[in-house]
Amino acid sequence: MSIAIIGAGIAGLSAARELADAGQSVQLFDKSRGSGGRMASKRSEAGSLDLGAQYFTARDRRFAAAVHHWQNLGWVAEWLPRLYQADQHGLSPSLDEQQRWIGTPRMSALTRGLLGELPATFGCRITEVFRGEQHWSLLDADGGSHGPFDQVVVATPAPQASTLLSSAPTLAAIAAGVLMEPTWAVALGFDEPLDSEVDGCFVKEGALSWFARNRSKPGREQALDTWALHASSAWSRRNLDLSKDQVAEQLRGAFAELIGCPVPAARFSLAHRWLYARPAQSHEWSALADTDLGLYACGDWCLSGRVEGAWLSGQEAARRLLDNL
Ligand code: FAD
Ligand code: NAI
Repeated sequence: MSIAIIGAGIAGLSAARELADAGQSVQLFDKSRGSGGRMASKRSEAGSLDLGAQYFTARDRRFAAAVHHWQNLGWVAEWLPRLYQADQHGLSPSLDEQQRWIGTPRMSALTRGLLGELPATFGCRITEVFRGEQHWSLLDADGGSHGPFDQVVVATPAPQASTLLSSAPTLAAIAAGVLMEPTWAVALGFDEPLDSEVDGCFVKEGALSWFARNRSKPGREQALDTWALHASSAWSRRNLDLSKDQVAEQLRGAFAELIGCPVPAARFSLAHRWLYARPAQSHEWSALADTDLGLYACGDWCLSGRVEGAWLSGQEAARRLLDNL
C-alpha cells in the first residue's frame, strides 16, 4: 500500500509511524519547512523558541506508554516548573501534582524523532486531493502533482482539512463545522534575568492566558532570559489583525503588570499569530474515515485539542486504515 499523509504535525507523524511500523509505505507532505506544526520550535537570534505547545500531559494509558518510550530515547523530559496563577487577587503560587512533559532540547525534538527517516516533502502545500479510477493524486500550490496513492490521511487543522476532504462530502462537512480559535504568541528576551520565581503562570483573566520562562525547561541553554507569552483566545480574536509590533507591545505591557518585578526593555521580541491554534470545543470522533474511498482525517480537533489528543487521533486513523486492508 502506498499512503499519502498530509500534515507532519504530531497527528500525521503518529499515523505515519504506526503505518510504517506495520510495513506500509508512507509519504508525508507539509507546507512548512519542517515537521512539528503547532509543536514546532522557531529558530531565532535568541535561540530556539517554543511558541506553540508549551508542554503536554499524558492521561491516556497508551499515550503515557509512548511518552515513557520517548523519554528513554531522550526526545522528551519532564518539566518541573514553579507554577503560579494570576487572577483578580494577583499572582500566587499554584503548585499541583500534574506531570508535564516537553521535547528536549526543544519542543520540535519529539516530532523530529518521530519523523526519523520517513519520506517527507516539505514546503509543499497540498491544495487538492482527488481520486481517479483506482488511485488518489495530490495537487500542490505550485501546480505539482503527486501520486498515485492507494490511501490518503489528512492530518491538518480542521479548516484546512475540509477542502482536502471534498471527495468525501460527509467528512468535509464535519471538518467544516469545527471552529478553531486563534492565539497570538510573543517571545521576549532580556539581557538580565528577571527577578522572578515564576517558571510558568496560568492567567485566568485579561489579555494573557499563559506565560513561561524558557530556561526553566530542561535542555534550554540561551544567553538571554527568554519568555513565551500567550494571549487568550478572546483577546487574540479581537486583535487578529493588529500588527506584530503592536501585539508584542500590548502583551509585554500585560506581562509587566502581572509578573510582579521590574521588566526592562526587551533586547529581543517576536510575535507569531496561530490562526488555528485550538478547537473551540473538544470532540469524541477519534478520527474520521471513509473506508470505501480510502480517505482518513485526524488531528487534535477530532479529540481534546491537545498534543495527547492529536497523537491518539493519528493512532486511530492508522488503526482504522490497517483494519480495512
Ligand atoms: P498541527 O500541529 O497543526 O499539524 C498540522 C500540519 O499540517 C502542520 O505542520 C501544517 O503545516 C500542515 N498543513 C496544514 N495544511 C496543509 C496543506 N494544505 N498542505 C500541507 N501541509 C499542511 N497542546 C498541549 O497539549 N499543551 C500545550 O501547552 C499547548 N499549548 C499550545 C499553545 C499554542 C499557542 C498552540 C497554537 C497550541 C497549543 N497546544 C498545546 C495544542 C497542540 O499544539 C496541538 O493540539 C497539536 O500540536 C496539534 O497537532 P496536529 O498534528 O493535530 O496539528
Ligand atoms: P494542564 O492540566 O496543565 O492544564 C489544563 C488547564 O487547567 C490549564 O489551562 C489551567 O487553566 C488549569 N490548570 C492546570 N494546572 C493548574 C495550576 N497549577 N494552577 C492553576 N490552573 C491550572 O494541561 P493540559 O490539560 O494538558 O492542557 C494543556 C495546556 O495547553 C492548557 O493550559 C491549555 O490551555 C493549553 N493549550 C493552549 C492552546 C493555545 O492555543 N494557547 C491550545 C491548546 C492547549
